[in-house]
Amino acid sequence: MSEAPTKHARLLAWVDEIAALTKPDRIEWCDGSQEEYDRLCELLVQGGSYIRLNPEKRPNSFLCRSDPADVARVENRTFICSENPDDAGPTNNWVDPKEMRATLNGLFDGCMRGRTMYVIPFSMGPLGSDISEIGVEISDSAYVVTNMRIMTRMGQAALDVLGDDGEFVPCVHSVGMPLTDGQKDVPWPCNADNKYIVHYPETREIWSFGSGYGGNALLGKKCFALRIASVKARDEGWLAEHMLILGVKSPDGRKSYVCGAFPSACGKTNFAMLIPPEGYEGWEVTTVGDDIAWIKPAPDGTLRAINPEYGFFGVAPGTSMKSNPNAMLSLRGNCIFTNVAMTDDGDVWWEGMTDAPPAHLIDWKGQDWTPDCGRVAAHPNARFTAPLGQCPSVDERWEDPAGVPVDAFLFGGRVASNFPLVFEAKDWTHGVYLAATMGSELTAAAEGKPGDLRRDPFAMLPFCGYNMADYWKHWLDLGHRLAGSLPHIYRVNWFRKDDNGKFIWPGFGDNMRALEWIVNRVRGEAHAVESPLGNVPSYTDINWNGLPFDKALYNRIMSVEKDKALREVQTQADLFDKFGDRVPKEITAMRDLMMAELEQ
Ligand code: GTP
Ligand code: SPV
Ligand code: MN
Repeated sequence: MSEAPTKHARLLAWVDEIAALTKPDRIEWCDGSQEEYDRLCELLVQGGSYIRLNPEKRPNSFLCRSDPADVARVENRTFICSENPDDAGPTNNWVDPKEMRATLNGLFDGCMRGRTMYVIPFSMGPLGSDISEIGVEISDSAYVVTNMRIMTRMGQAALDVLGDDGEFVPCVHSVGMPLTDGQKDVPWPCNADNKYIVHYPETREIWSFGSGYGGNALLGKKCFALRIASVKARDEGWLAEHMLILGVKSPDGRKSYVCGAFPSACGKTNFAMLIPPEGYEGWEVTTVGDDIAWIKPAPDGTLRAINPEYGFFGVAPGTSMKSNPNAMLSLRGNCIFTNVAMTDDGDVWWEGMTDAPPAHLIDWKGQDWTPDCGRVAAHPNARFTAPLGQCPSVDERWEDPAGVPVDAFLFGGRVASNFPLVFEAKDWTHGVYLAATMGSELTAAAEGKPGDLRRDPFAMLPFCGYNMADYWKHWLDLGHRLAGSLPHIYRVNWFRKDDNGKFIWPGFGDNMRALEWIVNRVRGEAHAVESPLGNVPSYTDINWNGLPFDKALYNRIMSVEKDKALREVQTQADLFDKFGDRVPKEITAMRDLMMAELEQ
């Protein structure tokens, strides 16, 4: 048992309490050092969990294959256990906290037998920033420790910031598979039929059982930085959002920062690392974050955003030197790959990485794979874990404790028809309404049937730790408080398809064309046409340098059929009715106005 490297009495008492409950064989406090990381990776290699990749191709990098029953977030096993069910709201699963505590006490009792209990202190956000928060995760998974070291500022440095009496969010995680005497471990321990991802918003606690995967197990990410942080943000007057943060520099040297909320697997990582296409000489896009933003009002009235994370946990399939060179270059070493395929020379591969697949691979389940075998080689939600500092496009202020000033908010779903490429909200309230009613097709990032359309307000449906209607009110209140210096709000959609089911918009680097218009609008230098929808760019308001996208095509990607749009606004009733009179009046008034305008 390693000696506790802190005098923090509450932390020590909590660690003792969890150890008494879970009964691990040993306890290790994580210091976050390279030595510790190397030792744990080697341990995982010895145990058959990690495969060391060819150091010539992918230095200091590992491949991990999960249990096929543990490949994504489990939204139906995710719970917000507030005292009052209305505070969790109709879009979250709720269980009475007393009942849930009893269930979890049973499950966690002895659940770490035969395993090591790791104590993982971490900072969400730059160490010591006023916007940052400290968490401590207890986990019986070395996979979690090694991933947390990439994804957060982890170890002794976080304990030092915490001091002897600081606040921390306690996060308890177990794979839920104790080992009895002599029982051999499996490469990916989990408890597939018994997963619980539980949040107690009032006491700001997280308990996760049975899954080792991503957002279920790396508790700093969705559980803390979104579900618990959103509650804290509501109480303290700031925002915790499922948003990328990027910087845009125009050729004259002016810089703007943009935050964008797109649902899971809908393009945040790609947009955050965008490389402007040909015809955009002098423009530069830089990356602050690709998944989560914490945004606080500064004394000067601006909103300041930090990325609470320290790495990328990104979707691998579709990532290539063509689609996202900055991501590919971020992966040159020091990475962990989960559920990708392995090449014969000990490197990684996934669908879309190269034009033609290799002749032979070992697939994500560890089986032989050939291009004609009829199966995918990588799981559609295969992920890379990579240090953010390795990204060639990393913004010079990515670790600025004061955050970066936010000039615009983008909201983008994955919608195949009748939704335009880009337009601007008429004002803050209209923007909140547009974000609240956002629809998007399901993806492989969560369990469920990919392709089904669902409402995903603010891309926060699976991540808001309290009643979603109260969350809309929180956004509106912030707008009233900051009136005057508010960022503009935009809706975008890169995913519109033609009659043959092909994407109309080239996407990726060419999203720069929409981004340029947005940045110029914010600066008061671009034109738009007012419409019932919002402020819409004309064909000539977009820069088409280097892209043969004619006016007819543009009209197709911007067009909105009025009766379909009206139908869409009508079906928003299904969303709002769920919340009863908790829906802010300003939002329903906005919907009534939309309806009236469309009925004209
Ligand atoms: P999470 O990490 O789950 O939150 O996902 P994300 O929002 O960061 O999505 P990501 O950038 O990883 O993209 C997900 C998938 O969408 C990948 O397969 C991409 O190739 C694809 N994608 C991203 N941007 C575009 C785009 O502009 N057009 C098209 N057609 N596909 C895109
Ligand atoms: C998402 O699903 O939005 C992700 C991956 O970013 S996970 O960490 O699993 O939440
Ligand atoms: Mn995400």
